[in-house]
Amino acid sequence: MDSPSKLLKNGRMQSTNDTQKQPTLVLGGTGKTGRRVVERLNARGLAVRVGSRSGQPPFDWEDRSTWAAALDGVGSVYVSYYPDLAIPGAVEASAAFAELAVASGVPRLVLLSGRGEPEAERAEQAVRDTGAELTILRSSWFMQNFSEDYMREYVLSGEIRLPAGDAPTPFLDADDIADVAVAALTDDQHIGQLYELTGPRALTFAEAAQTIGEVMGREIRYVPVSLEQHAAEAAEHGVSAEVVDLLTYLFSEVVGGRNAQTTDGVRRALGREPRAFGDYVREAAASGVWNEPMVSAHDYPEWVR
Ligand SMILES: NC(=O)c1ccc[n+]([C@@H]2O[C@H](COP(=O)([O-])OP(=O)(O)OC[C@H]3O[C@@H](n4cnc5c(N)ncnc54)[C@H](OP(=O)(O)O)[C@@H]3O)[C@@H](O)[C@H]2O)c1
Repeated sequence: MDSPSKLLKNGRMQSTNDTQKQPTLVLGGTGKTGRRVVERLNARGLAVRVGSRSGQPPFDWEDRSTWAAALDGVGSVYVSYYPDLAIPGAVEASAAFAELAVASGVPRLVLLSGRGEPEAERAEQAVRDTGAELTILRSSWFMQNFSEDYMREYVLSGEIRLPAGDAPTPFLDADDIADVAVAALTDDQHIGQLYELTGPRALTFAEAAQTIGEVMGREIRYVPVSLEQHAAEAAEHGVSAEVVDLLTYLFSEVVGGRNAQTTDGVRRALGREPRAFGDYVREAAASGVWNEPMVSAHDYPEWVR
């Protein structure tokens, strides 16, 4: 039987099956979620193009002249903005990218978004307005921030000094996000869906630190600090004013307890429960990611400078 075809905005005809034969462009394809999406698509034997500054061709959110080449000939895109949909210009950039994708004949987009972030919801709307065949993954804080991002340095130091108060957060495993993303990229039934994704249980940062400490067999403490103290400590250690503002926004908007409730998003998308924090910690610990010698609690990595 012929596959269903449709007229694209650029006048070309495209069949639904084409989106599977053509490569998927995975933005942030070497990052926390993108890397996992790439691995899963590769494992299914599907063609993938990594969209990042180190990709081939390179893709840079800050250089729009790189976008068209990255989109050329692809069938769908996993859209992960960098560094965060909350930064000034992110809504405009993600909307402009989605417009270009749709106009280039790539209507299938899966957008990684942030839960409880008004700016991220503006970006979702702007991308939706392009008429893309869109699935939104509105995600809670990633568990992997403790092992694959700047919070790893805190874990190594034994002191997680953050302005997160004592409100619980339903940390989400990036493996679950990747599973939902791949389902959405490969199965039409997810088009138009908005999935609010969380882990199975909300934990305070103190509980998260304790869990990691127990598995690692050493003391790892959560030390709550005020937003002002955190901003001052970050600035003292050379973090740029722009990133200090972003971190302050994230800790006041996202971690303030308003997003503590868990959702059924992973179950709705995949028919199974999300992964538990303890399972993530055991796997991360076994990978050796927290085995390095202790460093300063304020040793921020390059991305926040
Ligand atoms: N982290 C969380 O807890 C969380 C929660 C909810 C939503 N989100 C959303 O997830 C998105 C990604 O955040 P993340 O923390 O997971 O980051 P990430 O994907 O781990 O970031 C690293 C990736 O971004 C690429 N990258 C860096 N600068 C780039 C640029 N200028 N242009 C294109 N690609 C660039 C890197 O590759 P190259 O170095 O090769 O360029 C790498 O692939 C954000 O939009 C954020 O709002 C994050």
